[in-house]
Amino acid sequence: MPAEITTLLTFFGGTGDLAKRKLYPSTYNLFKKGFLQEHFAVIGTARQELTTEEFHEMVRESIADFVEDQANAEEFISHFYYIQQDITDANGYAAMLDLNNELDAKYSLKGNRIFYMSVAPRFFGTVAKYLKSEGLITENGEYNRLMIEKPFGTSFGTAEALQNELSEAFEDAQIFRIDHYLGKEMVQNIAAVRFGNPLFDAAWNKDYIENIQVTLSEVLGVEERAGYYDTAGALRDMIQNHTMQIVGWLAMEKPASFKDVDIRAAKNAAFNSLKIYNREEVAENFVRGQYGESADGTQKKYLDEMDVPADSQNNTFVAGKLQFEMDRWEGVPFYIRSGKRLAAKSTRVDVVFKKGLNIFGGDVELANPVLTILIDPKGGIEFKINAKDVTSEFLTRVVNLNWTVSDEDKKLTPEPYERMIHDAMDGNGSNFADWNGVAIAWKFVDAIQEAWDATREQFPNYVSGSMGPEASNDLLAKDGNEWVFKG
Ligand code: BG6
Repeated sequence: MPAEITTLLTFFGGTGDLAKRKLYPSTYNLFKKGFLQEHFAVIGTARQELTTEEFHEMVRESIADFVEDQANAEEFISHFYYIQQDITDANGYAAMLDLNNELDAKYSLKGNRIFYMSVAPRFFGTVAKYLKSEGLITENGEYNRLMIEKPFGTSFGTAEALQNELSEAFEDAQIFRIDHYLGKEMVQNIAAVRFGNPLFDAAWNKDYIENIQVTLSEVLGVEERAGYYDTAGALRDMIQNHTMQIVGWLAMEKPASFKDVDIRAAKNAAFNSLKIYNREEVAENFVRGQYGESADGTQKKYLDEMDVPADSQNNTFVAGKLQFEMDRWEGVPFYIRSGKRLAAKSTRVDVVFKKGLNIFGGDVELANPVLTILIDPKGGIEFKINAKDVTSEFLTRVVNLNWTVSDEDKKLTPEPYERMIHDAMDGNGSNFADWNGVAIAWKFVDAIQEAWDATREQFPNYVSGSMGPEASNDLLAKDGNEWVFKG
């Protein structure tokens, strides 16, 4: 049994889809594993009127697929409490404070509190303000922490305003900004591979690496989310957060230790050196796309999707080149791309190493060794290297050393949400986005968005089921490079 964590977890948005699909099952897994035992309580809060019994039934249904022992599940559910509340009304927080204090005494919770905001982003600041003004944040607890869902702002300006509001109530070390990609097993594996093997650690720089490629491609289209997505686009929906956070692990300096403060310091050293582009540089280094029909006509174009304005200039695909002005990465491009309706669902990192000096002569041609970290949907690691061909003449060929996450491993891998709730309870911020990184990612993305807003693009410019517009390939070709993953 692991050491028990003592906590009061409050889920704002407690009847929402995320709570039912992810948050309650994840909390239940933490209970089954023994991180939560006796000294915990969970409060769900939302506008809906629910009796305790109705709330318990909701939790029971949401964890049903994970239950092996019903008595154990009932024990877990008995720690759940519901409070109906309008979170924009300060008066409503008094009842919540009473319940907090009552549960604190009942379960000996030591004033430890985690507030999880799974509500619409416009409420984040309001809830934080009232938690402070209405006395919900304990002075004598071991910890009080805030977990906050994305999006963290929609631009640097709005993110900074939100940060300022939150920081009236919580210090930065108490704020856990969720980016579910940082909770993914194979994203966390980047650090193990890079820093756990001197071979890679020593070669992780401009002397050995030619370029690094990060791909987050999706097969699905906008679905029914145009209301949100048409104002966000791939740039704000996937690049500003998930892609940049993966890039953070790849570009960072080697941390002094594996503690969150050192990890953040090392990542920030990289983020602070990211070149922010002016308009001409955006045109040179970034490509936007919007999907058209599929070749066989079975998928419709973005402009024909539900709730999409007929003249939408929204980007459903982005490819770009990042440059870090730090000694380690001088002259090494980081290529990123993400889009909807692409050829494959694939989240992956390809690290393209330099070719060696060819001492073999004759017809031998050496390839760039490539280390690939497969994140989704199939986790794994591939390493393509030059090796000898079997023929008698001395020739080489590329061989692929590869490992795939087994089904057994998959079963043992915690869901990102389970990991993130655990880490926040444990006070470990290593896999959460910190304010400096978020701020720089917004400044970087804002510069691109502003440049795009100033010009119209001829859309659609890629076929659904392809790997995006041709300009995405041209972007790398200009540097004499090409995408490793071709769909
Ligand atoms: C979300 C985006 O953050 O990530 C979605 O809003 C996207 O548009 C999703 O589809 C992808 O996440 P995953 O874990 O399925 O790759």
